[in-house]
Amino acid sequence: TDTKNIRNFSIIAHIDHGKSTLADRILELTGVVSAREQKAQYLDKMDLERERGITIKAQTVRIPYTAKDGGQYVLNLIDTPGHVDFSYEVSRSLAACEGALLVVDASQGVEAQTLANVYLALDNDLEVLPVLNKIDLPSAEPERVSKEIEEVIGLDCTDPALVSAKSGLGVADLIERIVTMLPPPKGDAAAPLRALIFDSWYDTYLGVVVLFRVLDGSLKKGDRIRIYSSGREFEVMKLGVFSPESVEVAQFGPGEVGFLCANMKELSDAPVGDTVTKADRPTDTPFPGFKKVKPMVFSGLYPVEPNEYEMLKVALEKLQLNDAAFTFEPETSKALGFGFRCGFLGLLHIEIIQERLEREFQARLITTAPSVIYKVDTTDGRHLQIDNPSLLPDPSTIAALYEPYARVEIHVPNDFVGNVLGLCEEKRGIQKDMKYLTASRVVITYEMPFAEIMYDFFDKLKSSTKGYASLDYEIIDYRQSDLVRLDILINTEAVDAFSVIVHRQSAYPFGRSLAEKLKKSIPRQMFEVIIQAAIGNKIIAKERVAPFRKDVIAKCYGGDITRKRKLLEKQKEGKRRMRRMGNVEIPQEAFLAVLKAG
Ligand code: GTP
Repeated sequence: TDTKNIRNFSIIAHIDHGKSTLADRILELTGVVSAREQKAQYLDKMDLERERGITIKAQTVRIPYTAKDGGQYVLNLIDTPGHVDFSYEVSRSLAACEGALLVVDASQGVEAQTLANVYLALDNDLEVLPVLNKIDLPSAEPERVSKEIEEVIGLDCTDPALVSAKSGLGVADLIERIVTMLPPPKGDAAAPLRALIFDSWYDTYLGVVVLFRVLDGSLKKGDRIRIYSSGREFEVMKLGVFSPESVEVAQFGPGEVGFLCANMKELSDAPVGDTVTKADRPTDTPFPGFKKVKPMVFSGLYPVEPNEYEMLKVALEKLQLNDAAFTFEPETSKALGFGFRCGFLGLLHIEIIQERLEREFQARLITTAPSVIYKVDTTDGRHLQIDNPSLLPDPSTIAALYEPYARVEIHVPNDFVGNVLGLCEEKRGIQKDMKYLTASRVVITYEMPFAEIMYDFFDKLKSSTKGYASLDYEIIDYRQSDLVRLDILINTEAVDAFSVIVHRQSAYPFGRSLAEKLKKSIPRQMFEVIIQAAIGNKIIAKERVAPFRKDVIAKCYGGDITRKRKLLEKQKEGKRRMRRMGNVEIPQEAFLAVLKAG
C-alpha cells in the first residue's frame, strides 16, 4: 500500500471512557467484524480481560476502508491498555502510530490518565484528535468538556468529534476524520529495512509472534532478518496482518504494520523496542528503543500443597513467555516452604497473574503481601536491595534505609480537595502543587512513598471522594526513611511471610491494626491462637482467637447428615487457599491483611 493511503492510529482514554466500545464500533462500521459475530468485545482476547473490562495485551487490527473521496485506505488500529500499571505498553504502541484518538467521556471530562496518555502521545509526536464520547447520555456536557480539553491540554477542540460509541452515532464521521485529519506515515522504500518491534508474544504453535511497524525499506517472506541489538539472524517463515483473523501478506513496505514468525524460541529473541533489519543490507540507524520495564512490586507465590511446587514452576515459566514484565525466582519461607519471589508492575498486575495461574493452570496459590524494593546501606559498607521484608538485616547493622518515592497526580472536583489533602498527608505525602483546571476541578500533586500508594491508597481515595478522584503516578527516586520491620508471631512462632516494613511513627497503630485484621481472618481452631505483633523483641500488640467450644464440635459429628456434609464441603472449599503452619490453619486472606491495616 502507498504510504499516503495508510493511517496508523491508537485510541487513548482514561479508564471507562469507552475506548474498547469505540474500537468495536469502528470494526463493526467498517465491516471488519459484523455485529452478529461480535459476541463480545473483540479486541479483548482473553476471557479474563473481558471480565475485568481492561485490555492487557496490545492487539492490532488492519481495517480496509473506502473513504468518501473513493480512495482505498488501510487503517491500522493499534490497541493500548488503559491502566497506569501498563503505561509502558501504551508508550510502545504509540511509537508505531502517527495519530491518536483522544476519547474523553463527555459526561465526565479530563481525568488523570487522559492527561498521562496525552503526554505520551505528544512525546511521540502524534497528531491527537479529540473525541467526545457518550453524547447519548443526558448528563453529557460536550461544550464544558471541550473547553476543559482546550484549557487543560492545550489541544484545539473547536470542532471535536462527537460520538456515542454505544449507539454508533457520529462514529462513521469519526472514521472519515481519521483519513482526513491524521497524517500518513513517511518512509523510504529504497532504504535498508528498519522495522520497529512494538509487541511480541509466545504462541504454542508458531513460537514467537512479533508485531512490527516498518519505518523504511521492505520485508517479504523468506527474507533473512537480523535483530539489531543481538545481531542474531532468522528467516521469515510467516508474514501477515490481523483483520481481525490472521491473513498472510506477501510483502510489507514503509508505514505498514504486521506480524512475523521466524522460528524464534524465546521472547528475548525479539525484544520489544528493538529494530528488525535485513542480514544482507543492515541499517545503521536503529530505532532508539524503549526504557526497559522493571518490576516495582514483589510478592511471594507459594503452592497450597507443597507437592505442587514443580507444577507451579512450570506454570510460571509458561506465563513469563508472554509477559516480559513479570519475573520470578525460587525462595524459601520458614512458614510456607518452597515458593517463588515474583516481580510485578503493580497490584493489578499481581491480581492478573494470580488469576491466570488459577484459571489457566489450575494452580492453587498462597500470595504473600506485596513489597516494594528497599535499599539498605549496612554499617560494614555493603549496599543491599531487599524485596522481601523478612530479609531486612538486623537494625544494628543498618546505616541507612531508603524507599522508593512516587510523584502522584490526583484529579478531583473541588468539593473533595480537603479529603484528598488529608489522605495524602496521612500517607506521608509532601505537597508539590495544586492548581485549578477549571472553576470546579483541581489537580493535586504530591510526592509520597510508593509503598503507601501500593497498599490501600486507591480504595481510600475513591471512598473519600465518592469515586470522583482519578490518579496517575510515576516512581521518581529513592529517599532515606526511618523504617522498621514489624513481625507477626502466631502462637509465639514468628511467621516470616507476615513481616512488613513500616514507618517507625506509624509502627504501633499499624501493628495493632494488623493484629486485629489477622484475628478476623484466622478462623477458630481446636485450640487457642495467639497473634502478636513485634518490633525486634518488643511485643506491641496481641490478639487471641478463641478455640471452638467442645459442644459445638460434638454437634457437628451428630446425626444431622446435611449439616455434616455442608460442613465438610465448606472445609474442602476453604482448604483450597489455606496453609497449615505448625498446627494452625491460615487462610489466604490473612496473608493480605496487611493491605487493609494502614
Ligand atoms: P478499558 O478498555 O477497560 O480501558 O476501558 P474503556 O475506556 O475501553 O471503556 P469501555 O469501552 O469498556 O466502556 C466503559 C463503559 O462505558 C461500558 O459500560 C460501556 O458500555 C460504556 N460506554 C462506552 N461508550 C458509551 C457511550 O457512547 N454511551 C454510553 N451511554 N455508554 C458508553
